[in-house]
Amino acid sequence: MTQPSRTCADLLCALDRGESLPARWYTDPSITEQEPLLVFRKSWNYVGPLAELANVGDYVTGHAGSVPVVVVRNDKGLAGFVNVCRHRRHQVMKGRGNASLMQCGYHAWTYDLAGGLRRAPRSAAEPDFRLEDFPLLPIRAEALGPFVFVNLDREAPSARDCFGPVLDIIARSGIDLATIQLHSRNEWQARANWKAMLENYLECYHCAVAHPGFSAAIDVRPDVYSLAPHGWFSSQAGRVRTAALEGKAKVELYDVRGEVGESQYHFLWPNLTININPGFPNLSIDVWLPDGPNATRGFSEQFFGPGVSEQFAQSLIAFNKQVALEDDELTDSVQRGLTGGLPERGRFLTNSEQLVIHFQKMVVRALNGSSPIS
Ligand SMILES: [Fe+2]
Repeated sequence: MTQPSRTCADLLCALDRGESLPARWYTDPSITEQEPLLVFRKSWNYVGPLAELANVGDYVTGHAGSVPVVVVRNDKGLAGFVNVCRHRRHQVMKGRGNASLMQCGYHAWTYDLAGGLRRAPRSAAEPDFRLEDFPLLPIRAEALGPFVFVNLDREAPSARDCFGPVLDIIARSGIDLATIQLHSRNEWQARANWKAMLENYLECYHCAVAHPGFSAAIDVRPDVYSLAPHGWFSSQAGRVRTAALEGKAKVELYDVRGEVGESQYHFLWPNLTININPGFPNLSIDVWLPDGPNATRGFSEQFFGPGVSEQFAQSLIAFNKQVALEDDELTDSVQRGLTGGLPERGRFLTNSEQLVIHFQKMVVRALNGSSPIS
């Protein structure tokens, strides 16, 4: 394992001065190889909405970094497992749905909803083979509001301890998390390191330059657009522009005149983002997973409040898609810049990009084997 060339303390001090992480942290496979273990196996990974796990037998699959996971509802509540068969390590469950047993599609080893191995064809003829020795590996699963997370680290603080206050901030936007419903889900791929993509998410310094539609809807001026680090998560918030409410925006926009007047963009360590835009009750999430040093794959889920029209839903999804396209162009270019390795370090504006600095400090501490928050 290659160690970062500068010590943790040096890197943290450099970040305080506005000096970014070295370029190779985004391109060097020896850094990327450490992230599954030191970041994703020690943190809360979003898998899906609680509403998809309402009934006994409901299950949702996902990933904690590179580890396939599954959460099921059994008669005791939510249960999380590594979604990998104890036999030949084929993935057991796929997608989402409802099942009375979890059966691997390779050799039909079959687990109950508590993870116990109930049946392994031909195993009765095998000497010294006991079904009870091979349950699915259990992991922590926790619901927070409408969101379900898993964590492979038994020692980690609870999801509520890490992220609980974000629910109160979201409630202030006018969104009722108890009533939002999953509308749609899509998977995506991108050509930049996952950290570069999240760092782009974590500042709006680029909004006025690169997002004309977004900046017409939301007031992105630095004196009114807020950026707040909160330990395990960070939050951005902006007000809808009066011109947009009055239909006087310079570009064509979706209908922003719903009860949600404040946009919010939350980042929950290490790779979940939650977006709320002005208009009728809406919320979307993105999960950003490393796919080697130079690529990211992920999924998005769109939620809307009860009674929100399909026309509004589609127009907001199109708005978000346009912003994502604009961001992908930026982060593709950043990745090409990082790949050359020069300049080795970037220079942040510490008053506009403090959430990026906050994130990079978490990355530095995590890859040093420490708690991501100081
Ligand atoms: Fe952006």
